[in-house]
Amino acid sequence: MHHFNYQNNEMYCEDVSISQIAREVGTPFYLYSHATLRHHFLTFQKAFEGVNHLICFSAKSNSNIAVLRLFAKLGGGLDIVSGGELFRGLKAGVPPGKIVFSGVGKREDEIVYALESNILMFNVESFQELELIDQCAARLNKEAPIALRVNPDVDPRTHPYVSTGLKENKFGLNVEAVVETYSAANACSHVKVMGISCHIGSQLTEVSPFVDALGRIKDLIATLETSGISISYLDLGGGLGITYDQESPPHPSEYGKAIMETLGQAPFTLILEPGRVIAGNAGILVTRVLYTKSGEDKFFVIVDSAMNDLVRPALYGAYHAVEPVVRDRKETIEADVVGPICESGDFIARDRRIPLVQSGDLLAVMSAGAYGFTMSSNYNSRLRVPEIMVKEDRFFVVRARESYEDLIAGESIPPFL
Ligand code: LLP
Repeated sequence: MHHFNYQNNEMYCEDVSISQIAREVGTPFYLYSHATLRHHFLTFQKAFEGVNHLICFSAKSNSNIAVLRLFAKLGGGLDIVSGGELFRGLKAGVPPGKIVFSGVGKREDEIVYALESNILMFNVESFQELELIDQCAARLNKEAPIALRVNPDVDPRTHPYVSTGLKENKFGLNVEAVVETYSAANACSHVKVMGISCHIGSQLTEVSPFVDALGRIKDLIATLETSGISISYLDLGGGLGITYDQESPPHPSEYGKAIMETLGQAPFTLILEPGRVIAGNAGILVTRVLYTKSGEDKFFVIVDSAMNDLVRPALYGAYHAVEPVVRDRKETIEADVVGPICESGDFIARDRRIPLVQSGDLLAVMSAGAYGFTMSSNYNSRLRVPEIMVKEDRFFVVRARESYEDLIAGESIPPFL
C-alpha cells in the first residue's frame, strides 16, 4: 500500500500535487510519503507483536535524517554499517541503545566511535574484527557488546549481487568457525557476548530461506548453550522483498508468522533489520522529459535524471515502473527512458511501453524510496537531487538540491599549480 495515487488523472503524493512540487523545487527530486513510511513501519512492527522484538531499520536503504527520525519516534532502532550512518542515526535521535553495527570491514575509528556512543551491539564478522573490538574496548575501559554474524549457507534465490548468506559470500562466519569464535569471544576480557546475527540477502520473495536460516541459527544456539554461551538477541537481518513489477513477496504478517512459528518460545529478543520493505514503495523519483528522439530501431525518452541519481537499473538491471505524473497522453510507445550521462548503461527503463510523452512532461520512477538516493553519486559532476517528504497536504524539503559550490566543497588546488 502506498500513497501515490491519481486524482483527476494527476498523480498526488498524499494530498499534494506532484506537478506543484516540481514547479516549486524543480526536477529531478526524490519524494517520500510520510504516511506510507509510517504505515510500512507499523505494519512490520505489528507482524512481530507476539514476541519481544526490536526493528532496526536498515540505514543503507534510506538514510535521510528526517526518515530516521520518523522511525525513531515510532520506537525503532537502526542497523548501521559505517561511522557515517552512526552519525546520521544519532543526529536523527535514534537511541544508541537501539543501534546495531554490521559490516565486514569496520575501521578502528568507527569501532571506537560506536563504543563511545554505547550502541546496542556489534555484529562481528571475523576473528580479527573481534580482536580489534576487544583491544579498543580495553583501551576505553569498556565492555563491547557483540553478536557474531553467521553465514548460514542458505540460498535466498535473489539477484547474486544482493545475496549474502551463501558460503561463497564474504559475509559472516561459517557455522564451523562460529562456535570457535564464540569461545574466543567469551575469553576476551572486554567483550560481552549478547547475541547471534545473520542476514541472507535482499529482495527475497519467499519465506522459506528465512525459515531455513532461522532453523540453522536455532541449532547453533543450542550448541552454544551446551558450551555455556547464552544469547539474549537473535538478529535475523533484513531482506524481505517488495513488488517492483510482478513479484508477489509475502506480506510482512506472513513473514512474521513463519518466523515466530519457527522461533517458538524463545527467551531472547528478536532483532529485524528491514530496509527495502519499509522504504522502497514509500518513495519515487520525479524526473522531467528533456527530449525525445527516434534511433534506428528504438525510441528514446531522454530525462533529466540519470544513473547517478538512481543506479539500480544500470547496476542490477532492476525494474522500476515509470508512470506519467499527468495522464493526458492517449498514445503509447515502446521506449528506452535514458539519462544524460555519457554511458550506454545509463538508463532508467528499457523497451518499456509508456505514454507517448513530450518534452517537458513529468515522469514518476516508482519504488525508488530504498537504495535510491543513498546510492546516488556526483558522477559527471551532476548535482545530487533534493529529497522531499510529504505529510498530508504539505511538503518539506528534507535535503536541499546541491549547488555547484557543494560540488567542489573540500577540493583545493595545491600551490604548485
Ligand atoms: N541488514 C544487513 C546486514 C544488510 O546487509 C542489509 C542489506 C539489510 C539489513 C537490509 O536489507 P533489505 O531489508 O533492504 O533487503 N543496493 C541493493 C540492496 C543491497 C542490500 C544490502 N544489504 C539494491 O538496490 O537492491
